[in-house]
Amino acid sequence: MTAAAPDVALEVRGLVKAYDGRAVVDALSFSVRHGTVLALLGPNGAGKTTTVEICQGFRSPDAGSVSVLGRAPRDPELRPRVGVMPQTGGAYPGLRCAEMLRLVASYAASPLDPDDLLDRLGLTPVARTPYRRLSGGQQQRLSLALAVVGRPELVFLDEPTAGLDPQARHATWELVEALRRDGVTVVLTTHLLDEAERLADDVVVVDHGRVVAAGTVAELTSSGAVGQLRFRSRPELDLDQLLAALPVGCTAKESPSGQYLVEAPGDVDPQLLAAVTAWCATNDAMAADLRVEQRSLEDVFLELTGRGLRT
Ligand SMILES: Nc1ncnc2c1ncn2[C@@H]1O[C@H](COP(=O)(O)OP(=O)(O)OP(=O)(O)O)[C@@H](O)[C@H]1O
Ligand SMILES: [Mg+2]
Repeated sequence: MTAAAPDVALEVRGLVKAYDGRAVVDALSFSVRHGTVLALLGPNGAGKTTTVEICQGFRSPDAGSVSVLGRAPRDPELRPRVGVMPQTGGAYPGLRCAEMLRLVASYAASPLDPDDLLDRLGLTPVARTPYRRLSGGQQQRLSLALAVVGRPELVFLDEPTAGLDPQARHATWELVEALRRDGVTVVLTTHLLDEAERLADDVVVVDHGRVVAAGTVAELTSSGAVGQLRFRSRPELDLDQLLAALPVGCTAKESPSGQYLVEAPGDVDPQLLAAVTAWCATNDAMAADLRVEQRSLEDVFLELTGRGLRT
């Protein structure tokens, strides 16, 4: 295995994993810098959980290499340094919520305060409830607490907010932001693109076990940028006349009735905005709810991975 660069916490190189002759992880490579949050995105079955489980040492790759904090995934030295929140399960069903967290904290050299963590994740009222009687979302939050209580240097969170209510989702986001402030490296898989936009320094989009795009959220959403300007006005404005007043290359459409979309190559600039509002003024048309939008990560994701449902 070639050594990873010193600022790299996790390095995945040419990873391959096949089941029944089908590669579900197919020459996958990416790296995560120390102290940053990486979001691994991809449709159902893309190979995200398989990849992170190989990084955690739970599965063996057929080819390729993984370096976790400079070591092989199964190196016992990594155990106290790496936190894992699996996509499902990961707890002892008979233990009470707080007991379990205190037990895991007791293995760590300088754990976070379990009671504070329960409080931050809204679990104090169920601290004495056995794991199996917690609701799905409460189990999920406890699983997150268990992953981070030992103050790991690197944590893997596999869909940490799936199925959580909005309050719990925000509490989870705040916890991830606090981890990042403390210099913890976070590898997060998610289907929530607003979650990736909010939390991630870097994004890797995986499809069919391969990387189809990688970069910062800003880099991904600005590639091939299309500026969009939307407004509401009276129906059936004369769009040919409007386009004649705009720079070459713009398009305009009304859909549904009374809602207008002007698109321009690159970003919407102040001149385009002024041209649209000036034309509306000349034509005595009020441009209501006028807004300038960027492509979202969701637009980019759907362009990269298509709209078809996965089996
Ligand atoms: N142990 C296994 N045996 C056979 N096939 C498997 C096994 N584990 C995973 N797979 C297959 O590998 C593919 C990738 O699964 P994986 O769980 O890594 O996807 P994922 O990207 O995490 O998806 P999701 O978003 O649904 O969590 C799927 O087609 C899955 O059926
Ligand atoms: Mg998964």
